[in-house]
Amino acid sequence: MLGAWCLRRALRFCSSAPFPRHKPKAKLSVRDALGAQSTSGERVKVQGWVRSVRSQKEVLFLHVNDGSSLESLQVVADSSFDSRELVFGSSVEVQGQLVKSPSKRQNVELKAEKIEVIGKCDAKDNGFVNIHTPVITSNDCEGAGELFQVESSSKIKEPEENFFNVPAFLTVSGQLHLEVMSGAFTQVFTFGPTFRAENSQSRRHLAEFYMVEAEISFVESLQDLIQVMEELFKATTMMVLSNCPEDVELCHKFIAPGQKDRLEHMLKNNFLIITYTEAVEILKQASQNFTFTPEWGVDLQTEHEKYLVKHCGNIPVFVINYPLELKPFYMRDNEDAPQHTVAAVDLLVPGVGELFGGSLREERYHFLEERLARSGLREVYQWYLDLRRFGSVPHGGFGMGFERYLQCILGVDNIKDVIPFPRFTHSCLL
Ligand code: 4AD
Ligand code: MG
Repeated sequence: MLGAWCLRRALRFCSSAPFPRHKPKAKLSVRDALGAQSTSGERVKVQGWVRSVRSQKEVLFLHVNDGSSLESLQVVADSSFDSRELVFGSSVEVQGQLVKSPSKRQNVELKAEKIEVIGKCDAKDNGFVNIHTPVITSNDCEGAGELFQVESSSKIKEPEENFFNVPAFLTVSGQLHLEVMSGAFTQVFTFGPTFRAENSQSRRHLAEFYMVEAEISFVESLQDLIQVMEELFKATTMMVLSNCPEDVELCHKFIAPGQKDRLEHMLKNNFLIITYTEAVEILKQASQNFTFTPEWGVDLQTEHEKYLVKHCGNIPVFVINYPLELKPFYMRDNEDAPQHTVAAVDLLVPGVGELFGGSLREERYHFLEERLARSGLREVYQWYLDLRRFGSVPHGGFGMGFERYLQCILGVDNIKDVIPFPRFTHSCLL
């Protein structure tokens, strides 16, 4: 899901940089091609990325998208055009005639006369290595104490003997294990079940959920991390929309009318960036009465996050540089006394609030040692500190809750409706 391949595709999708080739006379965007009124064999050029390939005995069908529209343009070609380079993700320039489509699925299609593969897509050329981080762990990555402890059922009666000799828990995040692996592979990710004993019945909390997490070495600014997060969101969403349009449409039609436009609005615009301090100022000036009064140094509540997204025109917004006291020990100190913030970043999205949480990591030994010592964690995290002794590099990463992601793109109000067997406080059916 998070291959560099996918991320690079995202880069291309989101990039507004002009394509470094001669501008063809009748070059059309996919959006313009789909909306063309005249289909009397007009010759055009379309450039984009292959979203799907269907090869039949005599005909080849491609779906091409250039990011200008949620829908792709169907290209119909003679099977002789088929080639091993024409695969999902490769970039192409197609020349041909825009004709009326015989299918009810689209009004127009492009009858190809020439297909040029501009950039091959090798899905194996994958800069992000997939790591299977453990489900059972002895660390509390987030330091929030929201852990489910794991013990052999026979040992519960004799608690003095731990199965693992140390208390063990279901993971709250694979981040710390990813940090180990990013020291070997530079860019790593994991996608797996995550557990939080949060006493919450809210519409966006589960006790068991899935999280995509990435960790990247040599990242020195939040800006670089933010770019990867935005591209991941946009590229994944474009892929979901083009690979399962019927499923998405069903949700949009029956559950969240208007969601298609809201999503298009999110994809079309650059996400915004504000600091935590600016966020608190915006909330303080709001005419809305909040249940929790916004105040610098206090965590943002869901109601605050939703307000901020609305305030930003329903475009996802990155909130950066939170107070050090609010965030876990591993986040990088911004050394900006007297405020004292850390290089944290949360992405807030319409309808849900926080979808991603990430940060630059504290890679400086003495800073980290002091933070750990202050929380009484110095001994337990010696192995983590040691990572900063042997070739430590600036690095950062993030996690995205998968069920919240589905809520966001499908417009589903309650997280329990995007997972078949939701687990939450007082509920573990089946
Ligand atoms: O913000 P969180 O707690 O960040 C971390 O766990 C980092 N260690 C991730 C990292 O940097 N590798 O969680 C990340 C995301 C949240 O933004 C949210 O989308 C989701 O995980 N999440 C939950 N989703 C459903 N139910 C819960 N109880 C969730 N808690 C977090
Ligand atoms: Mg968070």
